[in-house]
Parts: sequence; C-alpha cells; structure tokens
Amino acid sequence: MEKIIFATGNEGKMKEIREILKDLNIPVLSMKDAGIHVDIVEDGDTLEENAVIKARTIMQLTGQLVLADDSGLEVDYLNKEPGVYSARYAGEHTSYHIKNRMIVDRLNGVPDEKRTARFVCVIAAAFPDGTILTTRAAMEGRIGYEEKGANGFGYDPIFYLPEYGCTSSELTMEQKNECSHRGKALRQMKEKLKDLLK
Ligand code: IMP
Repeated sequence: MEKIIFATGNEGKMKEIREILKDLNIPVLSMKDAGIHVDIVEDGDTLEENAVIKARTIMQLTGQLVLADDSGLEVDYLNKEPGVYSARYAGEHTSYHIKNRMIVDRLNGVPDEKRTARFVCVIAAAFPDGTILTTRAAMEGRIGYEEKGANGFGYDPIFYLPEYGCTSSELTMEQKNECSHRGKALRQMKEKLKDLLK
C-alpha cells in the first residue's frame, strides 16, 4: 500500500490522524492533498453507514485505500439524541453555542447521575478490492450545566469528564487525543491495518 487517503476536509482532524497513524510509515493524504473535491451526501441512519459511504465513495474514485470517520454525541436522557444527527441538530447552520444551550435546557432539573452521555466515533476502511473494515469507540462523560473551556469544537464545552474534573473543551489537544472516541477508534483501526499490511 503506497498511500492512504483520509476522507475529510478538516485540517484539524488531519493533524491528529497523521500523528496517530505515523508508525504505519505510509503517507496519509487528505481529500485536498489528493485533489478530490466532492460533496458526499451522508444520508445513512447509523455512524457505520455514513463512515462506509464516505470511505467507499472516495475509494471508488481513486482506487486507493481510503479511511473515513463519522461521530456523534449520545445523550442517554434524550434517548441517545442527537447521535448520528449531531452535526444537523437544530439545523446544520445553527451555532454550537445555541445547540449546546438547547441540550442543557432539555436537561433542566435532571440530576447528575442521569446526565450520562458519550461521544462515539466509527472509522471505516475501504480497500480497492472491496473489503470494508470498521472500528467503533466511545468517550464516556456527562452533560454539564453550562459551557466551559475554549479548546476543541462542537459539543466539547458541555461535555464533562468526571475523571478529569473538567469538560473536553478544557483539555489540551494531546490530552483529548489520548482519551477521545476518535483517537481510540483510529488506534484500533491502525492495529487492524498493521495485521493486514504485514
Ligand atoms: P463528524 O462526523 O466527526 O464530523 O462529527 C459529527 C458531529 O458530532 C460534529 O459536528 C459534532 O457536532 C459532534 N462531535 C463529534 N466529535 C466531537 C468532539 O470530539 N467534540 C465535540 N463534538 C463532536
């Protein structure tokens, strides 16, 4: 395998992905690096479906090994909403400040022990021969009472991590990569790839 394409346009994610996959000793290209400009409709009902749609679409366009991720926030008290719809919750163009406010408001009066939530990430790999692999991992926490922290993105400011005593938005990028759903799922995928590429 001479290169891997990661089906994302997010440069922040690419930095984290390259760091985690560096010991595979295979160049990891973003869609931009690979000169691919397509809009992929993520219309699956699960994170697995969306990750596979993205990886397979780009593999078919390039004939290369392609990885893709899909992730979301599951809030137990809200029947695991927003889940696969996390990016589109309350409208795709609604700011995260408003999305976060809405989730905190929907949990008004709910005690700590019922505020459990997790970020989940699925990584899919699509090989040129049609083989598909997926890995899934989670980061467990609770929904806080207000936004805290300036790092990260999305729902991080309201995602409280009891073992760190702060939100995931208050962790450094290195700390978050170590315990995050995306970091864990990607490391699992790396181990599968190491076995296959031996
Ligand atoms: P994506 O599939 O990685 O683009 O993530 C979908 C959505 O899930 C994001 O737009 C965020 O709303 C949410 N999300 C996923 N991972 C995180 C995270 O690490 N922090 C905060 N929000 C996240």
